[in-house]
Amino acid sequence: MTAQVTLYPDRVTFTTEQGESLLAAALRAGLNVNYGCSNGSCGRCQARLLTGEVKPVGYQDFVLTEAERARGGLLMCCRAAVGDVLLEATLAYDSSDIPVQRLTARVRKLERYNEHTLRLQIRTPRSQTLRFIAGQHTRLLLNDELQRELPIASCPCDGMNLEFQLHRNSGDRFTEYVFNELKTGSQVIVEGPSGDFTLVEDDPAPILFIAWGTGFGPIRSLIEHSLSLELTQPIALYWVTHEDEVHYAKGYCRAVDDAFENFTFTPLQTDTASEALQQIQAQTGNLDGWRAYIAAPPAIVDRCLEQLGDIGLQPDRVKSDPLVA
Ligand code: FES
Repeated sequence: MTAQVTLYPDRVTFTTEQGESLLAAALRAGLNVNYGCSNGSCGRCQARLLTGEVKPVGYQDFVLTEAERARGGLLMCCRAAVGDVLLEATLAYDSSDIPVQRLTARVRKLERYNEHTLRLQIRTPRSQTLRFIAGQHTRLLLNDELQRELPIASCPCDGMNLEFQLHRNSGDRFTEYVFNELKTGSQVIVEGPSGDFTLVEDDPAPILFIAWGTGFGPIRSLIEHSLSLELTQPIALYWVTHEDEVHYAKGYCRAVDDAFENFTFTPLQTDTASEALQQIQAQTGNLDGWRAYIAAPPAIVDRCLEQLGDIGLQPDRVKSDPLVA
């Protein structure tokens, strides 16, 4: 049996499955609710029950004071809905709504896709997850000397398991260290989030995603978030790689293309930016009114604005993430 939850004052609604925590259901729906530990210990997911009934699920809410309980306070990670409920809870809509956090995490997995590309997975402690909006960055501090701001490639619905996709640049000490010396279990400091390469959620316009190489990382985070929000407008993904590189997550893109009617994926392999953009121009047709998200080096972003501007793409409807090698 499902129940409907409405969050006040935004009047945003989502459904929960029987026995599912209010927090898990809100995150599954792509909502940026405040949370930290998901297990009742940090108190950050506190909301207030206005109408309806809830029941305990999973964890205890010992961190709530008697006064908080008396005015309807509850922890969303510790309660499930019994029928429809109305809650008072604050949502984050842009980067300024989320505070900078500093966490100590561990490397969970290092997976090389190929000689130049690597997937780095970080796991935070259970009691301290990273809250961020899809498309944002965080700073990774590997040791006293090596640190870098990187786009987060995973979904904000899981702030404990963070993913980054890195391109190896010869002579760059940070990426050389990650490729050659960083080990599973190593400690890293995570500091963030930052950046505003985030979805404009209230715009029903068709969406154009352009990923250049490992620019697929932040674009993937936006795709995951679009799917959570169940957006229905056309979404076109173009992922461009050099001729000697591969689309390392092609299987994922094809699966999303197969499963969602409004989503199309086109892999492009070329060493020439103008050739890739000509193909995009030919396939999309007029882009007037579209919203575009481009994760590519700054020079490529400029080319995109110039060439795609010829077919109607308006600069003020474009967001770009230049933190891509
Ligand atoms: S108490 Fe930490 S997320 Fe609920």
